[in-house]
Amino acid sequence: MGIKTVMVIGAGQMGAGIAQVCAQSGFTVKLNDIAQESLDKGKAGIEKRLDRAVEKGRMSEDDKNATISNLTYTTEMKDASDCDLVIEAVVENMDVKTKVFQALDDITPEHAILASNTSSLPITEIAAVTNRPSQVIGMHFMNPVPVMKLVEIIKGLQTSDETYQSIEDMTKELSKTPVEVNDFPGFVSNRILMPMINEAIYTVYEGVASPEDVDTVMKLGMNHPMGPLTLADFIGLDTCLYIMEVLYEGFGDSKYRPCPLLRKYVKAGWLGKKSGRGFYNYE
Ligand code: CAA
Ligand code: NAD
Repeated sequence: MGIKTVMVIGAGQMGAGIAQVCAQSGFTVKLNDIAQESLDKGKAGIEKRLDRAVEKGRMSEDDKNATISNLTYTTEMKDASDCDLVIEAVVENMDVKTKVFQALDDITPEHAILASNTSSLPITEIAAVTNRPSQVIGMHFMNPVPVMKLVEIIKGLQTSDETYQSIEDMTKELSKTPVEVNDFPGFVSNRILMPMINEAIYTVYEGVASPEDVDTVMKLGMNHPMGPLTLADFIGLDTCLYIMEVLYEGFGDSKYRPCPLLRKYVKAGWLGKKSGRGFYNYE
């Protein structure tokens, strides 16, 4: 059965972007969050980005209206009962994710595929809490979702070829490029990116240079579009810490030890751009 109706769980920076690109490609999309405030913020962000796309001539007014009419917003996960695909984008925490997957396994039709946008957590372990591990897969979008072309598709131990093919086809329908990756901590993207960000934080922690100077070195010296500390703030320092913890625990290698300064900032509630303060001040 083809994918027509999609629920996205979690209306944060990733979930709202994923819902937007699915709706733009003609899928019927339900965006879900436990918090009404997050849903409202997600909706406002989507509509602002669509307005900007029309302003810039990248999208017609008709396509904007069609995208908006493909989207509904709900705090009820049970509205997934007619969905062909669910893409989960809640906090990077195994307990929270497995609870969501257990609930979805009860709610969704038998044929539905359950995908996770996890940055680093094992798909095999998430799949194991459901009665349909062959239909569970990682669909890892990059931030900001409307701009970035990559989707890492992660096959868990029991993910079927049929499930993989459906998600690869859908990724292409979203005008994104799929890359197939096996289920290993951090997959490819964050196994490479996060140790660089963590090292940049150690560089500040050890007093080698200021955040501004570390970012300037990487931007002007390596042509990175954003310096690693600006990028860490953009991703969310909580998410960066969770990913480093998954790498540290998953590989058991001290080279992945999260920098104490990263822990300290997260404990202080300095989560980066989304909380108004991280390595930089956004207030
Ligand atoms: N959401 C949606 N669209 C955005 C956006 C956002 N947050 N930020 C920028 N854009 C769009 C804008 O629409 C803009 O186009 P218009 O001006 O025509 O509207 C376009 O991107 C370019 O933006 P800017 O000119 O403002 O800025 P820029 O040229 O510096 O580009 C950027 C912004 C694309 C974000 C660029 O800085 C970049 O590529 N940064 C690195 C991003 C990156 O590495 N992402 C991966 C993070 S890791 C990850 O996602 C995985 C994980 O699990 C943590
Ligand atoms: P976020 O903090 O911006 O948003 C998470 C949202 O999930 C919040 O709105 C929260 O209210 C909601 N939520 C929490 N528990 C929920 C539940 N049980 N049911 C429904 N909604 C719930 O986080 P984010 O940056 O969007 O990250 C979400 C996921 O995407 C994480 O797994 C993260 O690792 C992954 N990811 C993040 C990035 C990034 O750059 N931030 C990139 C790729 C993947």
